[in-house]
Amino acid sequence: MANFLAIVLLFLISAFSCADSTNSSSQNCILTPDWHMFVINGLSNEVIIAHIRDEYGRPQCEHCPMSPGVSFSWYFCPFGEWYYGDFTRGSTQKTVQLYSKHIQNFCGHKFLLGTEHCYWLVKPDGFYVAKKNLSISDPNWSYESPWI
Ligand SMILES: *[C@@H]1O[C@H](CO)[C@@H](O)[C@H](O)[C@H]1NC(C)=O
Ligand SMILES: *[C@@H]1O[C@H](CO)[C@@H](O)[C@H](O)[C@H]1NC(C)=O
Ligand SMILES: *[C@@H]1O[C@H](CO)[C@@H](O)[C@H](O)[C@H]1NC(C)=O
Repeated sequence: MANFLAIVLLFLISAFSCADSTNSSSQNCILTPDWHMFVINGLSNEVIIAHIRDEYGRPQCEHCPMSPGVSFSWYFCPFGEWYYGDFTRGSTQKTVQLYSKHIQNFCGHKFLLGTEHCYWLVKPDGFYVAKKNLSISDPNWSYESPWI
């Protein structure tokens, strides 16, 4: 019985950490588009731990394990707060500003309605951003910052 429970638990944990997930639904922002921000683990065989929060420390994703190829996303209205990601890969840690004035300009179309999409890709040499979900090997990801 205990073994059975352990297996079920392992299954639940792996199902949770392997699935793409979204922590929030569309916000229906007023006079601005919704923003839908994605973070994708583009490492080929390493799990990263992502802690995604706003500038006041309120988490979107609290220490989420992300398997290779998995994404996490959330929606927000584009005023008020900036967002940060604290990423752990083995013994390396890095904080990246995931939503900033620069990223607003980079990904935004200045729509008044609808949804702006923005994608972050975590790679062995650092963090990349794109307006579209490019394939992991696409050269058009824009390099933003190294791991260290
Ligand atoms: C989802 O985001 C809310 C804040 O919008 C936060 O309170 C909650 O802990 C987050 N869920 C996870 C799984 O991190
Ligand atoms: C991005 O595109 C890949 C295929 O290139 C797909 O497998 C993946 O689910 C997509 N991710 C998101 C967050 O849309
Ligand atoms: C990269 O972007 C440029 C300009 O938008 C485009 O011409 C080119 O085809 C893209 N390359 C790939 C591999 O998608």
